[in-house]
Amino acid sequence: MVQVLSDLPKFTDPNILIDQTSLDDAGVYKIDAHRALIFTVDILTPIVDDPYVFGEIATANSLSDIYAMGGDPLIALNIAGFPPEADVSILKEIIKGSIHKAKEAGVKILGGHTIKDEGVKYGLAVIGIVKPDKVITISGAKPGDKLLLTKPIGTGIISTSAKMEMATQISLNQIIDSMCRLNNKAKDAMQKIEVNACTDITGFGLLGHSLEMARSSKVSLNIYGNKVPIFKDAIKYVNKGIFPPGSQSNFEYIHPYARFDTQVNESYQKLLCDAQTSGGLLISIPSSKVEHFCKLVPEALIIGEVIKKGKFPLYIGW
Ligand code: CO
Ligand code: CO
Ligand code: CO
Repeated sequence: MVQVLSDLPKFTDPNILIDQTSLDDAGVYKIDAHRALIFTVDILTPIVDDPYVFGEIATANSLSDIYAMGGDPLIALNIAGFPPEADVSILKEIIKGSIHKAKEAGVKILGGHTIKDEGVKYGLAVIGIVKPDKVITISGAKPGDKLLLTKPIGTGIISTSAKMEMATQISLNQIIDSMCRLNNKAKDAMQKIEVNACTDITGFGLLGHSLEMARSSKVSLNIYGNKVPIFKDAIKYVNKGIFPPGSQSNFEYIHPYARFDTQVNESYQKLLCDAQTSGGLLISIPSSKVEHFCKLVPEALIIGEVIKKGKFPLYIGW
């Protein structure tokens, strides 16, 4: 989207802290010295069969961009596409799941808008709140920082395998639990412990969003390939040739910017580029603060480090 939007006329207003010219997850607008609004919108096509669960996942996914910037989500409006001939109880289930997840997050859905569409789509526009001097962006990573990741990767590969009826129920349940999980615990910890940069891992995959962080922060990232948490079966399905088209285009885009150690085989390279839905947060944190952070968020794992800008934005070792 950034390429498309870069040529458009810009809004100038001293209260705009973050707009579409950055690679951040949301826009940020300062209201006064103590408060800024974080505003974001996301919409998904169904990735699971159960409409209630889909509503939960789409909601966790939409809220994630607020959490990634260190904010507390406040209110939301839903946006849905729905085929006129489809059973409207499906839409109701999606919204019920969404409300359930919103309540868990303490967000109020105040209304929304549905349009007739060929396929089902659902998402939220969300407003969050943050202290203007506490906004966490993608552009603050510093050499010496450690990189933490809060959820395993491989949801794209496993959900595609599930659609082909190749995934086991166990691995499907694992990714559903993960996609439903809010990133609020990591956000709480980021508000307590100052971190340097954060972004959530979604459609551009772990390496795509890492690339954005490297570019925005003008550094290189050294990813420890064997330390990245993965859903175990994902690699098995990649080896069988299952790889979603979106993940494939990530892989092709990212490859020239990444230097892979010879031990990182092609299946693994692909897995690291897999498009995620409602993925975890990638956090760049001063190494002295890692221990404290991981005590508060035990699922956050060290997957790499930030180094001075080198020939490649990304180095993937083993
Ligand atoms: Co995002
Ligand atoms: Co987003
Ligand atoms: Co309307």
